[in-house]
Amino acid sequence: MFVPQQSAIETAFRETFSQSNRQYDRALNLFPSGVTHDGRYLEPFPVYVKEAHGSRKISVEGHSIIDYWVGHGSLLLGHGAPTVVEAVQRQMALGTHFSACHELELEWGERVQKMVPSAERLRFTSSGTEATLMAIRVARIVSGREKVVKFIGHFHGWHDSLVLAAYAPYNTADWSMPGVTVGVQNDVVAITPNDLELVERTFLEHKPACCIIEGTGGHWGLVPVQGEFLAGLRELCNRHGVLLIMDEVISGFRIHPGGSQAHYGVTPDMTTLAKILAGGLPGGALVGRADLLEVIAFKNRYGKKMKHPGTYNGNPLSAAAGCAALDAIADGTACRRATELARQLRRGLNDLFARRNAPCVAYGEFSMIHILPNYDGPRPTSDDFIPCGGDYRQLDGEQPATLKHAFRCALLLGGVDWFGWSGMTSTEHTSDDLQQTIAAFDKALNWLM
Ligand SMILES: Cc1ncc(COP(=O)(O)O)c(C=O)c1O
Repeated sequence: MFVPQQSAIETAFRETFSQSNRQYDRALNLFPSGVTHDGRYLEPFPVYVKEAHGSRKISVEGHSIIDYWVGHGSLLLGHGAPTVVEAVQRQMALGTHFSACHELELEWGERVQKMVPSAERLRFTSSGTEATLMAIRVARIVSGREKVVKFIGHFHGWHDSLVLAAYAPYNTADWSMPGVTVGVQNDVVAITPNDLELVERTFLEHKPACCIIEGTGGHWGLVPVQGEFLAGLRELCNRHGVLLIMDEVISGFRIHPGGSQAHYGVTPDMTTLAKILAGGLPGGALVGRADLLEVIAFKNRYGKKMKHPGTYNGNPLSAAAGCAALDAIADGTACRRATELARQLRRGLNDLFARRNAPCVAYGEFSMIHILPNYDGPRPTSDDFIPCGGDYRQLDGEQPATLKHAFRCALLLGGVDWFGWSGMTSTEHTSDDLQQTIAAFDKALNWLM
């Protein structure tokens, strides 16, 4: 078990990040808990960043921090990728919003269509949350059915339907969420991941409109999709007339230029995209079968239209950044590089954890790394190791908040910013970064155990 030296960590943290502390005092008068995204909340206070380049962020104190949040997963090419910056600057001077159709949205859409197997047609949104909201509404209109099946621990944004069962602790008797009506809850069926028999029983019982899944498993592979599950799910969806939605907001363009669907060879009916899609600027998309997305068209075979406005849909700046980023990713080299770096980091961390006899393990796939704390099972002997037999209750259980804050603070003191218990690599991380990261974990362990 970890037993963090809470007060020693906090004292060092306050000394090292004193200017951030002052900025946070201002923030407390502005934002609930002082932050603009729940994930950025940190005790005693979050670190304020003034600029970022490549694999690193610079704190307001001037500390250089190796970044494994990578823009919440949107920066596969690292911070300030030159071609993206140049494209956005060029577009900035030409106009940021035309309230009109423009050629860059065509360029952007054509790139997506070429790269993502399911993208016969698409519509841009402003975020991944909007894309998944849109996906289930399209599914409901075209199928005439109402229920949505999702997997426990799969995150699809924060709108009413899909926020249910997205966060531990998972209490299968009650998926209620403050502010979400009972009516909405009743329309969503959340089930255990990786269980095809359960999927079939659920389809038979509820006759859902659609089933949505994170392409690499809940919380970007914290609970990995296992074996033939995706192919089996595709087959069951076909058999029971259920539309399959693959949420590739994280996995899209990260694990493969065509996302999980290209990597696994399983084509969903619709796909949701965001993050890397827009090169680090705001943006998302729903892509999918032409006959399904036709329901957004003004004259369509369904005789009813799904309304879809959105001030920033297809925004020229996001389109410029997106085109530049997708061009840099299209040949697969960037995905492979980030994947290889993450593999090296997982191995290096597990060597360290074994050497230090630390109660934790690193695992994950592609360019994603997860740390499972308070783990006392066998050490991995290969990179495809999945701890705890993949049991979502153990891999995605609620960890003590104090340990989580201590872990992040201890790593930040060693110059590493880790995304909760997880991290992602970009193409810009270097071998030196990996060595420094392992050294920072080594130092952090002194404080944590
Ligand atoms: C798999 C997945 N889907 C949807 C979303 C929501 O995207 P956004 O934050 O752009 O609304 C996220 C965000 O992290 C995500 O990881």
